[in-house]
Amino acid sequence: MSTPGLMDKIVSLCKRRGFVFQASEVYGGFESTWDYGPLGVEMKRRIADAWWHDVVIAREDVVGLDSAILQSPRVWEVSGHVAGFNDPLVDCKECKGRFRADKLDETPCPLKPSRTVGKGGACALTEARQFNLMFKTHVGPVEDTAATTYLRPETAQGIFTNFLNVQQTMRKKLPFGIGQIGKSFRNEIVTGNFLYRTREFEQMEMEYFCAPEEAPRWFEHWVEERYRWYVKLGLRPEKLRKRPHAKDELAHYAAACVDLEYEFPWGWGELEGIANRTDYDLRKHSEASGKKLAHYDEETKAWTTPYVVEPAAGLSRCVLTFLVDAYREETVDNGEERVVLKLHPRIAPIALGVFPLVKRDGMPEIAREIVAKCLDRFPVFYDESGAVGRRYRRQDEIGTPFCATVDGQTLQDRTVTLRDRDSMKQERVGIDALPETVERGVRGR
Ligand code: GAP
Repeated sequence: MSTPGLMDKIVSLCKRRGFVFQASEVYGGFESTWDYGPLGVEMKRRIADAWWHDVVIAREDVVGLDSAILQSPRVWEVSGHVAGFNDPLVDCKECKGRFRADKLDETPCPLKPSRTVGKGGACALTEARQFNLMFKTHVGPVEDTAATTYLRPETAQGIFTNFLNVQQTMRKKLPFGIGQIGKSFRNEIVTGNFLYRTREFEQMEMEYFCAPEEAPRWFEHWVEERYRWYVKLGLRPEKLRKRPHAKDELAHYAAACVDLEYEFPWGWGELEGIANRTDYDLRKHSEASGKKLAHYDEETKAWTTPYVVEPAAGLSRCVLTFLVDAYREETVDNGEERVVLKLHPRIAPIALGVFPLVKRDGMPEIAREIVAKCLDRFPVFYDESGAVGRRYRRQDEIGTPFCATVDGQTLQDRTVTLRDRDSMKQERVGIDALPETVERGVRGR
């Protein structure tokens, strides 16, 4: 499958089947922002739930938080974002384009796309200047500097400023983590590749606080854990790699960082970064606020400013990655073509399609009864229109792992056929056992 072909197909499938729409579409769209439709929001929630379950709920040493998007501007001054959260920007006087100076050799020239920016012949680039990525906004009715703050560019700082609140209320001892899922905003110079790089996006971040000497061990632990998580949720391991950062690439706060990268149609790109952030953030916020953001050990009677190991993933980027990885075009036994999203059942937006073979003989009534039995367990979709083969294809295309069909035999013995999306094999299952069977499949196979 050629590179632009695959992305075009995914964008078109997302629109046609209600995963993702262009934001403000009725006004011609708005600056690579996207709205999640019924299937997209369900898939995104299911990925977030899988993360929340595996990283927060299923671990005794991690608790959750939901901090505000708007924080005191002091947070961003002290964290270093006001002074240092910049990308280098160049303008081209010829094409009027704006580009990231550090990515010119991977950016096609708008006037001569076979060449990169700066090599297009007529390119007239300005000197690079630093551009701060935070969105400035004003709080309250007066637009003066005293009221200026920023939309958060990462969820992490809300965790650092709440370190003591969480540690004391939950009586946590080192090591422990605080996880958070939420929106972040960056005024990216260049957006693109659909959901990959946008100005408004969601993150799933966890800050794991530990004794300084234990940070390297926890860093290794979280790199492995997070890699395994993606594989467990179905990403093909040959498309996933760990890329350690070179020393000169590390963020100002980090002692070490490994990116988990996925091989997208346009090349390898970051899906998640795992960093050893040292004690940088807690120390800075302690110094600036006068509050001792540290851990007191009752036994040793000693204070420690913990080190932090941070697995930081992009939720919106995960939606795109799982879609890209799951998309297949197959020729099936009868020679027909099918498009299928081989999404892991845990993150598929619909778990079960339910069909009456025909719209008579009481079959729709039984199918409706099955839907009612399943509704409060997992997402289920009823469809009685068209040939049953076409109904299977429609569910394949949106990644539904199971389809149950009520047929003539159901009227005799209250069994239905249960079809597996990937193998397309069908087995007969009793109606009473069906919800549990599907639920087991959705929990993970
Ligand atoms: N707290 C650390 C932090 O924010 P990051 O590497 O800048 O680290 C973490 O961001 C993850 O957030 C990235 O790996 C990526 O998945 C996602 N992300 C960052 N910028 C993004 C953008 N403009 N659009 C979509 N996702 C983004």
